[in-house]
Amino acid sequence: MTVDLLALQEAIVRLQQGELVAIPTETVYGLAADASNPLAIEKIFRAKGRPSNHPLIVHIAAPLSELDEEAKQAAWFDLITPWARDLPEEAMRIVAAFWPGPLTLVFRKDKHVLDAVTGGQDTVAIRSPNHPVAQALLRRFGRALAAPSANRFGKVSPTSAADVKEEFADLPELLILEGGDCPVGIESTIVDMSSGGTPILLRPGAITPDAILRQTGVRVLGQESTAADHASPRVSGSLKAHYAPNTPLRMYTPGAIQDCLAEYPDTKSRVAVAVWESESDSGLSQISHGEIKEVAIPFSSAHFASGLYRLLRDLDAQQWDLILIPDPPAGQEWDGVRDRLQRACFGSGPSESSHNNN
Ligand code: TXA
Ligand code: MG
Repeated sequence: MTVDLLALQEAIVRLQQGELVAIPTETVYGLAADASNPLAIEKIFRAKGRPSNHPLIVHIAAPLSELDEEAKQAAWFDLITPWARDLPEEAMRIVAAFWPGPLTLVFRKDKHVLDAVTGGQDTVAIRSPNHPVAQALLRRFGRALAAPSANRFGKVSPTSAADVKEEFADLPELLILEGGDCPVGIESTIVDMSSGGTPILLRPGAITPDAILRQTGVRVLGQESTAADHASPRVSGSLKAHYAPNTPLRMYTPGAIQDCLAEYPDTKSRVAVAVWESESDSGLSQISHGEIKEVAIPFSSAHFASGLYRLLRDLDAQQWDLILIPDPPAGQEWDGVRDRLQRACFGSGPSESSHNNN
């Protein structure tokens, strides 16, 4: 991907002036501001309509790739320590294996980190995005960027520049850096390393606890072994309703579509049914129903994640009465998409009738 240097320059000027800039990352687009400027941070919360106790991720530049391993580790340490303290030794192993990449690590925060960034908590979430435009911006700007996903609070994250434009149609002056479609497609995995003890998975994503164990020997405790709901929203995606489309969305057990449709007699007219591409000749046409459209989806967790938010946005725009998506299979590599789908189902539907707490 070629980086538009003029656009990058304009972005830097805006960030220096305390303005917001939407940036591409490998996961989803982010709404970025200078992480050290409290007035700029405030603008993020205002633009998103997000409660101010929801902490943001601090995005940092990566060391130059030509450094040898030892110099690179030292450079990572120097990039992280202005933000975090008490880094456990395991953290540097995880950084070496997965950064830059779709993995956010939570540490105890340095005292200089703004309360507005951490939601007043004594921890800070950090990641280095693996995207050429984001990295070019971070290097040239020379400072860290606080950035949540560039969507309205509770809505589906944007995975293209056009999605961001649509989300923030009422902010026509917002600069959106073009970076193509986000290849990962769902938000980063979040692992909490702040206790000094066993790291804890806070949000599943493309990088699984199994992958971390395999590549670093570090064991990450899954969510099922931790308290299900934090009293305060440490991870805003941990609110039950999140990532939600406006069209009612339900998950179905493959082979039991009929049961699922029968449960929603009031929405029987126009239904979009996602079907694993390997099972796309699933006999849907024999179901008597108002209108059913079959949409083939890839039976690979990475490919499915990559297109998930695009699919939800596109189907949402087509104004079906109901969207049905098959239950993903068991297994850690599907946990990220299953988590997003479950939340999307819970919060889906027109906002006045949904459970969403936007
Ligand atoms: O892939 C991503 O992580 C994207 C791209 C733009 O980098 N960002 C993203 O940001 O998903 P956001 O704000 O939509 O979600 C970040 C999550 C939030 O749910 C927040 O609660 C959690 O990270 N988080 C931030 N700081 C935290 C902390 N100190 N402890 C626990 N969770 C934290
Ligand atoms: Mg988000």
